[in-house]
Amino acid sequence: MTPDDSIVLRFEDVSLHFDATVALDHLSLEVHPGQTYVVFGAAGSGKTMLLKVAVGLVRPDSGRVSLFGQEITGLREQDLFDIRARVGILFQEGGLFDSLTVAENVAYPLTNQRVLRQAAVTPEGSAGNGAVRTVDDRVRESLRFVELEETLDKFPAELSGGMRRRVGIARAVVSAPALLLYDSPTAGLDPITANTIIALILKERDLRNTATIMVTHRYQDGHLMANFRYNPNSGQIERARGGGDVSQVSTKFLVMNAGRLVFEGTEPELQASQDPYVRKFLRVGGA
Ligand SMILES: Nc1ncnc2c1ncn2[C@@H]1O[C@H](COP(=O)(O)OP(=O)(O)OP(=O)(O)O)[C@@H](O)[C@H]1O
Ligand SMILES: [Mg+2]
Repeated sequence: MTPDDSIVLRFEDVSLHFDATVALDHLSLEVHPGQTYVVFGAAGSGKTMLLKVAVGLVRPDSGRVSLFGQEITGLREQDLFDIRARVGILFQEGGLFDSLTVAENVAYPLTNQRVLRQAAVTPEGSAGNGAVRTVDDRVRESLRFVELEETLDKFPAELSGGMRRRVGIARAVVSAPALLLYDSPTAGLDPITANTIIALILKERDLRNTATIMVTHRYQDGHLMANFRYNPNSGQIERARGGGDVSQVSTKFLVMNAGRLVFEGTEPELQASQDPYVRKFLRVGGA
């Protein structure tokens, strides 16, 4: 087994069933560093299962899944733990612990992952000068990233829905993961708050060249991911230049239907699709 970091995630002919229900149907895909995948699909089409299988939280019935060049399909839970430390996840249900403060929630991936603890919680490339940063520093930095540093000692129940989502993002990015999975990050939010969330996701992607898979029901979310980028010099989200701009080229859209990948391509290709099911996801500003 030669780990190959040029492919962040690979699915090869992956299938998953729950009794007679097909959750994933012979699914294959490859995600490269810095690449964005936007996943559309009806309720129950397998979007969440795609993410859960990607990190080994659910094991497929057949096929192979590799993370960072290592096949995870047959790995023991302990070994999976270490690989999973390199992936950040924002769960569809939010997944914050009600009994923990915001700071404790955000610290959770750092204090519960062996690899990161052993590395004195200094991920490659982040501290630069080799300085060891404490969990507390990292938590503050992550909450500052989502502009919620002042909520450190609050409990999730004291926050608005949009703020809770931002805490979820802070927790997902705190370990500086190479792959980020976002399950419906804008669901249930008003359009302005939703755009703020997408801006954070863009910022994280473009600051660190993170591979990103984002499940969403909003066409606008995918459109923003494909056409906008974070400019570290201005600190602003800007429209990407046309033609060969990086984010245009590296954002792909996937459409799932009953566990099957029924579309994979760029935004212009998605726009050009004549498939009635695929076209359902095209409405700008859609639900
Ligand atoms: N634990 C489970 N037991 C039985 N069936 C399940 C389980 N988890 C998921 N499924 C089924 O697998 C299929 C895919 O589910 P999944 O959660 O991936 O859908 P989804 O595309 O994320 O939907 P939504 O947009 O509503 O979140 C569905 O038919 C669902 O009912
Ligand atoms: Mg889901």
